[in-house]
Amino acid sequence: MNPSTSSNTEYLDVKAIYGKLDKLISQPIRPVRRDKMQAYLDYFETHCTKSKEMIHTAMNFIPGGVQHNLAFNYPFPLVFTKAEGAYLVDLDGNTYIDFIRAGGPAVLGSNNPVVQEKVIEVIKECGPSTGLFHEYELKIAELICRHIPSVEQFRMLGSGTEAVMASIRVARLATGKKKIIKLGGAYHGWSDQMVYGMRIPGTGRFDAHGIPRSCSKHSQEVFPNDIKALERKLRWNRLRGGTAAVILEPVGTESGTRPVDFEYNTKVRELCTKYGALLIFDEVVTAFRIGLSGAQGYYNVMPDLTVFGKVVAGGYPSAGGLGGKKEYMSYLAAGLQGAKKRAMVGGTMAANPLSSAAGYYTLLEIEKTDACTTAGRSGDRLTQGLQRLIEKYNLPFVAYNQGSICHLETSATMFVRVNMKRPWTLPGALKEIKARKHMMEEMGAAYMAEGIVTVAGSRMYTSSAHTDEIIDEALARFENVFQHM
Ligand SMILES: Cc1ncc(COP(=O)(O)O)c(C=O)c1O
Repeated sequence: MNPSTSSNTEYLDVKAIYGKLDKLISQPIRPVRRDKMQAYLDYFETHCTKSKEMIHTAMNFIPGGVQHNLAFNYPFPLVFTKAEGAYLVDLDGNTYIDFIRAGGPAVLGSNNPVVQEKVIEVIKECGPSTGLFHEYELKIAELICRHIPSVEQFRMLGSGTEAVMASIRVARLATGKKKIIKLGGAYHGWSDQMVYGMRIPGTGRFDAHGIPRSCSKHSQEVFPNDIKALERKLRWNRLRGGTAAVILEPVGTESGTRPVDFEYNTKVRELCTKYGALLIFDEVVTAFRIGLSGAQGYYNVMPDLTVFGKVVAGGYPSAGGLGGKKEYMSYLAAGLQGAKKRAMVGGTMAANPLSSAAGYYTLLEIEKTDACTTAGRSGDRLTQGLQRLIEKYNLPFVAYNQGSICHLETSATMFVRVNMKRPWTLPGALKEIKARKHMMEEMGAAYMAEGIVTVAGSRMYTSSAHTDEIIDEALARFENVFQHM
């Protein structure tokens, strides 16, 4: 696959980025000036009163008053009523440039009218679901198999989390082995086995509250981009029952927050083949965003299984799926056929007509309008603009992107070093994380008060709806914040 079909114009200088991030984490935090931060907090009190009131009520009925982990919640979450193109409007009527993109799926921009019309047609015809087969399930499966090089068959599921669970089950059946290796810091959904080494590498079961130790028994993590560490783990496992799969996001953990060298994926592929483990690409974020052929098309690496989510239902509910070679996908045969042992998967709402049609028309629209490339160019423009601002104001911040996935690290919370093997260092590390996390929240609030919605104050997804003018307007607003650090 030719990388030029992807939105990425040139590959990251991974070494330089880590150098800058190391420098950022070694310095004290550089938050927004206190008087300016107070003015930003005042914005919420004066301009977002209706949101404040509703969230206050929600606190009584919804734990924490908010339901999404990426929801911006400092000083309090806002309530959004309208999403269109590149914009969001809150309950008080304030308009924002939207870089959260529904958590990733809105590559075409929010509420794309072509997709919306088709979805309404389906709902009018048969309602959102029947529990039985619908033509759109076939249409989307065919389209995904056409675009994603390694996918011969596709099964639609309810979410990325479910699809990761299914991929692990298939890998264990196919290999007869148990261990699953992930890259430290990666998020692969919230299933028992994957709440392991989340956010910060080396943290193991740190977040595994309510999950028995036995559930993480076969979960392992290695440091991202360290190919030697991966081989050591695979070799170690060989003497202890073997590795069923290595699972990773090809762009690096957390949508490329920790990017990997261009050759890393190829080397992981070679190691998986050498040690008889399946290679699972988690393309929940990257499929149909990095390019129509996914990140695997861009890196030209064929995984055995690919996990889908987000764009696969075009921002509509029930976004998940697993694809791969027939020999592995046959473990997921539903219904009554199939002689071999089956991996149990299911879901009342999996592959419903609404999600399948939404995904199908979203992919067609992305193809027709070359949306990944346009969104990628917007990501380049945004990142280059941020880099100029960082230089102009002599800030230690780091901006980098892979096409339409942009990172702006100002406090580098996820780069705090945690060493669980030295428990006496943990209180210090936790204190550092707390301070850096608070700065990240403040940055998110400052951007929001300037009319920009980000993912947790440090990540932005662009879409084909982000024109040059919109990006330049966003940069002017970022500059308002950067002037007051
Ligand atoms: C890389 C990755 N894998 C898996 C998931 C889980 O997907 P879902 O939220 O659909 O369960 C996410 C969600 O953000 C993700 O970013």
